[in-house]
Amino acid sequence: MAQPFPVQRRCPFAPPPEYAELRERAPLVRGTFRGKDVWLVTRHAEAQQVLSGTGISTNPAIPGHPHHEAGEPVPGFADGHFIDLDPPEHTRFRRLLIPEFTVRRVRELRPRIQDIADRLIDDMLAKGPDAELVRDFGLPLPSLVICRLLGVPYDDHEFFQSRTRTMLSAAEDEVRRTAMSEIRDYLDALVTAAEKGPEDDLLGRLITGGRLTHAELVGVIFLLLLAGHETTANMIPLAALTLLRHPDQLAALRADPSGWPAAVEELLRYHSIADWVAFDRVAVEDQEIGGQLVRRGEGVFVLGASANRDERAFERPDDFDVRRGARHHVAFGYGVHQCLGQNLARAELEIALRTLFERLPGLRAATAGEDPPAKYDAAIFGLAELPVTW
Ligand code: HEM
Repeated sequence: MAQPFPVQRRCPFAPPPEYAELRERAPLVRGTFRGKDVWLVTRHAEAQQVLSGTGISTNPAIPGHPHHEAGEPVPGFADGHFIDLDPPEHTRFRRLLIPEFTVRRVRELRPRIQDIADRLIDDMLAKGPDAELVRDFGLPLPSLVICRLLGVPYDDHEFFQSRTRTMLSAAEDEVRRTAMSEIRDYLDALVTAAEKGPEDDLLGRLITGGRLTHAELVGVIFLLLLAGHETTANMIPLAALTLLRHPDQLAALRADPSGWPAAVEELLRYHSIADWVAFDRVAVEDQEIGGQLVRRGEGVFVLGASANRDERAFERPDDFDVRRGARHHVAFGYGVHQCLGQNLARAELEIALRTLFERLPGLRAATAGEDPPAKYDAAIFGLAELPVTW
């Protein structure tokens, strides 16, 4: 029987239990998404095959793509929304942006990220001894980082945060569309102002480079803003709670901070917060995947959270183990669309978590042993709030 999709999570620490059954059944299973038949890719090897395959497209303008009829590519942002483009158009954008997100560039940003983390903790300490970790730390940290990087005034963050949250929520299409067009107008004005006097920031460099049209610049900034804060923002509180629930592993990290990079990889694998949301594809030629013929024009979703719990790729996949050292997870994707901001996200997570646990040694969840409320119906998973005390 076809699996109705998406399947909601019911626990903050695990993908939907249906994923294990689907993975056991086959690497590709039939699903239905908004009344249409789609393929669901359940295992790690096939996930990598699909995400790096040339006979597969991310472009929702192609009939058969799971989001084809939803009116996407994203209205008003289609021009620079390169996550929806295939090579060679995709490559044009990617080449311009890669220098902004290299390991070296991110290393230069670390003191700035550290400064932001420290200031947020200073504020929490001044107001404490309790806080709400999503509002007070998880969300503002990546938001401040990406705003500064792009040259977006942080004073406007509440505006675009509320609109992006609506856009990514399960709200009616009409409500989501209105939120999207409000962000579009805002970013259009921002780019117009920057074009008159480009600064030495990412947007300014893209403008002076002269390779992108105005509409493309608006689309690129929109994609970076969206991808750059909602994801890491969700990971930080979820990761903090996971570590608090594994005190022995947290103690080991406190004793030897060199373990943080591996811990971040494990947190990304274990939670796979983006799961399927960015992994919507359409076959553009007939091909065999996992012994299954996938025909041209058929829609495909890769279940990232299932691939990252595949026992064929990871030992004891349901165990959380900061010493695992497995970097072959697909939490950032795989292939040409693999997360452009992954070096930045890794640095943000490491600095945020290390600073939080170093500066608040008595940190604990104020949830009376219960799981805090989570955003089970949102496209990118995370906690709705995490009350803490110290
Ligand atoms: C924990 C944090 C993050 C996670 C889990 C995450 C996850 C992902 C995933 C799964 C994809 C692949 C989409 C696909 O295959 O179609 C992706 C793409 C992308 N991400 Fe991230 N991301 C994170 C943080 C960031 C940050 C901080 C930025 C900063 C700007 C960013 C920018 C992007 C962009 C621009 C793309 C599109 C790349 C392309 O199509 O070439 N992400 N991300």
